[in-house]
Amino acid sequence: MQIQQNVIVYVPIEEAECIRAKLIESKVLDMNRKIKKFTENDQNYLLLPVTKEIPEYICLEDNNPEFYESQRSLKELISDEIPAQKFAKIPSSWQVIGTLIVIAIPDELNDIATLIGQKLLQMYPKCTCVVRDKGIKGAFRVPEREIIAGSGTETLHKENGCIFRLDVTKVMFSKGNLAEKKLMSTSSKNEVVVDMFAGIGYFSIPIAVHSSPKKIISIELNPVSFGYLQENILLNHVENLIEPILGDCAVVTPEGIADRVIMGYVGTTHHYLSSGIKALKPEGGVLHYHETTPEKLLPERAVNRVKEAALQLGKNTEILDIRRIKKYAPGVWHVVVDAKIT
Ligand SMILES: C[S@@+](CC[C@H](N)C(=O)[O-])C[C@H]1O[C@@H](n2cnc3c(N)ncnc32)[C@H](O)[C@@H]1O
Repeated sequence: MQIQQNVIVYVPIEEAECIRAKLIESKVLDMNRKIKKFTENDQNYLLLPVTKEIPEYICLEDNNPEFYESQRSLKELISDEIPAQKFAKIPSSWQVIGTLIVIAIPDELNDIATLIGQKLLQMYPKCTCVVRDKGIKGAFRVPEREIIAGSGTETLHKENGCIFRLDVTKVMFSKGNLAEKKLMSTSSKNEVVVDMFAGIGYFSIPIAVHSSPKKIISIELNPVSFGYLQENILLNHVENLIEPILGDCAVVTPEGIADRVIMGYVGTTHHYLSSGIKALKPEGGVLHYHETTPEKLLPERAVNRVKEAALQLGKNTEILDIRRIKKYAPGVWHVVVDAKIT
């Protein structure tokens, strides 16, 4: 059996002991790697290293696996080859997406970017290419990235029992938001879901794979992301559940059909609130509205935007939850409001 070196099972801390025992019993707990702790939205999780993907649990790739038998870090690998003043600037984190590594490198290290890429490929023998990340641009959320070592920027990434094909230089893939993706993927049984900013299927695919929905309508405007969305639907064998629509969700969102609407976009999401609310069934449903909010306007701005948009359509709003997903920029949070609209 080939051991997959980076796979971890992501479990809430309260369930971890029981699951760890089951993994040991099934001989899939990886004893060479350390168990790590992770906190997201005040919930503690344990990341249990395993030797292969286990379908019944959320499985992810660990960017920085820690081995009992110590492996050399990027800093250690590179230290002999760079001047001392650059040492402190060497990044200590990066994302492994399928067989690719995505890393942000400060401008001061321009002259050693290729070296950093080569050392990362040495650290991750399964990986084939390292790309440098320079941020995300525009409404299509297109990443600005360039190859610094290796070749080929398309990969297959496995997460939470789902498989995604993507080109990391053409579409964004957020490995964060794990709790949110899990929540969405477990709450849509027998429902009609409209995913208004579907991307390559970050929410739609896990819902289809895990949640037994009646139907998902996934809307995406960027033809490149839409192409990957179509491929990912086929790869995950959920073509009977997901109907992808290429278009602007301000124009093509269907009306009066959804039990649940996901508005997983930030920046100008509030401009689309009336389309999101109109997509819900006349008797009502649940809206997941995302936005980026300055800390001092939390939570009122996001909540009021939902309430006002609903009121304008003659609807009532019951706020079910408001969650901080992650820090988006200094003093700005990516938040999601769950609201029952009737
Ligand atoms: C943040 S990305 C995908 C988000 C994904 N739900 C996630 O959580 O990772 C948002 C997507 O919305 C798409 N998009 C932007 N404006 C749109 C619009 N008016 N109609 C449909 N899709 C749009 C972008 O092309 C992008 O793929």
